[in-house]
Amino acid sequence: MIFAKPSARTRISFETGFYRLGGHALYLGPDDIGIGKREAVSDIARVVSGYNDIIMARLFEHRHMLELAEHASVPVVNGLSDYNHPCQIMADMFTILEHRGHLDNLKIAYVGDGNNIVHSWLRLACRLPFNFTIACPEGYQPDPDTIKLAKQAGLSEIAISHDPMQAVRDADVVYTDVWASMGHKEEADERRRKFEGFTVTAQLMAATGKDSIFMHCLPAERGVEVTDEVLDAPYSIVFPQAENRMHVQNAIMLRLLGKG
Ligand code: CP
Ligand code: NVA
Repeated sequence: MIFAKPSARTRISFETGFYRLGGHALYLGPDDIGIGKREAVSDIARVVSGYNDIIMARLFEHRHMLELAEHASVPVVNGLSDYNHPCQIMADMFTILEHRGHLDNLKIAYVGDGNNIVHSWLRLACRLPFNFTIACPEGYQPDPDTIKLAKQAGLSEIAISHDPMQAVRDADVVYTDVWASMGHKEEADERRRKFEGFTVTAQLMAATGKDSIFMHCLPAERGVEVTDEVLDAPYSIVFPQAENRMHVQNAIMLRLLGKG
């Protein structure tokens, strides 16, 4: 497990999960191997492949994730990059399925920054049909090519809005994430000003007009993108959501090892 950025859930869920499957996971933190700094990504890929059955990586630059996968001779699992976070969103969709019992007529309203989490939702929208509505401030839209990809896939309905109240109407799920992701934390103050009105409050949850659930990939900045009242409400499923990272990733690893 190569981590160029900090982590709680990804590290713990992969390490514990792999142990539960009978494996052993090795944690390589930001100061250990210096991927892309002390040593070329392509060299690390070849070296680490010689000792391990799977590589899980959390990296800053998505191009490094692709380079790792290109040069590794074992499967590479993306544990988050500046572009996307696929394990998170697979676990999230599983959590929705577990909670609702089906995925029919599903509307997910994402309120906040058009970041890596949103890119993974958009990519999932190419595989499964759902309505995905994003409410973000001007200038914080997701990557246009990824929006195009999701729209062109023709499976899901994709909408972008700058009005959270209107975006959440009829939503089954209201989802948010931090306004300043890892690598952008120095913009936190500026973003707090620009994202004014995008906090998920009880009032915003009520604006869905339904018994909606609240989700967040965590870690949350309580009182910033979401209020304590929402995060701790009975309709918030953030902790089962976090737990499901482990179960879904175990399924992913079994599949990659040809055992699932
Ligand atoms: N949701 C998530 O990936 O959390 P960590 O950054 O703590 O791993
Ligand atoms: N968008 C957040 C997700 C953390 C799990 C980040 O990249 O920091």
